[in-house]
Amino acid sequence: MNTPSPPHPDVRIFASFAEEAARFFEEWSQRAFASRDTLHVALSGGSTPEAVYDALVQSSRRDSVRWSHIHFYMGDERPVPTEHADSNWGMASRALLDPLDVPTVNHHPMPTQTEDLDEAAKLYAGNLHRLLPHVDGTPQFDLIFLGIGIDGHTASLFPGTAALEETRRYVVANEVPQLETTRLTLTYPILNHARSVVFLVSGERKSAIVSRILKEADPDLPATHVKPAQGSLTWLLDRPAASKL
Ligand code: 6PG
Repeated sequence: MNTPSPPHPDVRIFASFAEEAARFFEEWSQRAFASRDTLHVALSGGSTPEAVYDALVQSSRRDSVRWSHIHFYMGDERPVPTEHADSNWGMASRALLDPLDVPTVNHHPMPTQTEDLDEAAKLYAGNLHRLLPHVDGTPQFDLIFLGIGIDGHTASLFPGTAALEETRRYVVANEVPQLETTRLTLTYPILNHARSVVFLVSGERKSAIVSRILKEADPDLPATHVKPAQGSLTWLLDRPAASKL
């Protein structure tokens, strides 16, 4: 049985954002390992998570985490090879997985080597079906890290794009006209089925959008609709990002 979701997100405001967010993950993993032997975590791209990954690597408590028992996935990906500077997986590997020697068998990047991104999305959804535990027939992440953009996007769920309407598939190739690109992204049906979703947001330039999401619940913003039905929702903010709350 899952515990019912809390009525409001758990919002935490940190003075030393990256270090305290790293500690949040260390403590979360200890609690989560108390009831399971393997954890499945989806990572986020972007500069805010990257600072948290660095802090995890630098943390004096990093050996308290059973890294080799955590499988890592990606919440969204740009259509570039891993070696490319824009690759979310490339960033996560360099910042987190490689320095911590996470076994490669635990690495689950979104496939971008194929030209056909719809096919890549299907492949990744197949991996999720195969690798994640299922609850009520749907694959379930233990934790999904997300970031937000100043337009309210999260993962690669951008305002006005088709992926926002997806009710069945867990991974899609989402055309993002505002960026003139197509990106792979997890969709609401799997995001909102997670045991835990954690937003990582820092910087004053995010303060207005944070307020529109958390205070106004603006329905036009994709991040507003991330509300795990049976899991927990946590927002980790630095003080500047929280300054309009
Ligand atoms: C991406 C992301 C995206 C990101 C936000 C925040 O591929 O760009 O996964 O959703 O998390 O845009 O990014 P920043 O932390 O760099 O502002």
